Amino acid sequence: MNFKDKNVVITGGTTGIGFATAKAFINAGANVWITGRNAENLQKAAAEIDSPKLKTVVSDTSNLSELPVLEKAVTDSGNKLDVLFLNAGIAVFAPIEQVTEADFDAQFNTNVKGHFFTLQKLLPHLADGAAVVFTSSTVATAANLGGSVYSATKGALNKIAQIAANELAVRKIRVNIVSPGPVSTPGLDKAVPEEVKPHLAAATALQRLGDPDEIAKAVLFLASDDASFINGTELLADGGYINYALK
Ligand SMILES: NC(=O)c1ccc[n+]([C@@H]2O[C@H](COP(=O)([O-])OP(=O)(O)OC[C@H]3O[C@@H](n4cnc5c(N)ncnc54)[C@H](OP(=O)(O)O)[C@@H]3O)[C@@H](O)[C@H]2O)c1
Repeated sequence: MNFKDKNVVITGGTTGIGFATAKAFINAGANVWITGRNAENLQKAAAEIDSPKLKTVVSDTSNLSELPVLEKAVTDSGNKLDVLFLNAGIAVFAPIEQVTEADFDAQFNTNVKGHFFTLQKLLPHLADGAAVVFTSSTVATAANLGGSVYSATKGALNKIAQIAANELAVRKIRVNIVSPGPVSTPGLDKAVPEEVKPHLAAATALQRLGDPDEIAKAVLFLASDDASFINGTELLADGGYINYALK
């Protein structure tokens, strides 16, 4: 896929799906900004990708006062954005009795509020005809135990993305959703104990966890001209999890 000299912002690009997608866009010729909450993780990611086409921005999606830092990085470049990949996310699984207000707020502030206001802030800097991709999850559809808050954030995100697709179509900006099933990332390591992973793998038709590079390919497709008539849709990249789980 060719993204030569296209300008791409990826929120949450230091590890996992965001990092794999940053690598894929760089390999396809794009200029990429990745964000994350701390400079050390960003430096590590930049050292691994090792490309002058990669720029890093410390910007906490959940803290609206940090969004202007990202906006400034884009405006300073003098370029419009061709792709915005809203990917940063956190998950805390717990039964309803054990959910704390802090966990509830952290997930909604990162997974919903942060994405909404990042989109709003960067809208004037998107080129007409740009592509926006949100990272949601199969849990927006599934109703797994312990996922009440996380699933609710992804359900809310899907609705924001669908309405954004309708509102932004006037500028020929396409907005789509990639919904991964269980994918082997540092984020999954934090969210579930090691012994749960075989069960997650067994819940997919393909009987395995996904690799972040497989999600990156889906994101590049949605962002590319090959998806020129795809707008407001959710692409499941889940090894068949949803259909298999509901069989
Ligand atoms: N892995 C899965 O099985 C799976 C399945 C479905 C959906 N997803 C979704 O995929 C997305 C990526 O998750 P992942 O599995 O790749 O997890 P990950 O490895 O933990 O990556 C999450 C990324 O988001 C960044 N991040 C977290 N909070 C942030 C904030 N407030 N501001 C800016 N950056 C922030 C992290 O960077 P720092 O820690 O450096 O800040 C990191 O770069 C998330 O939206 C997640 O919900 C994952």
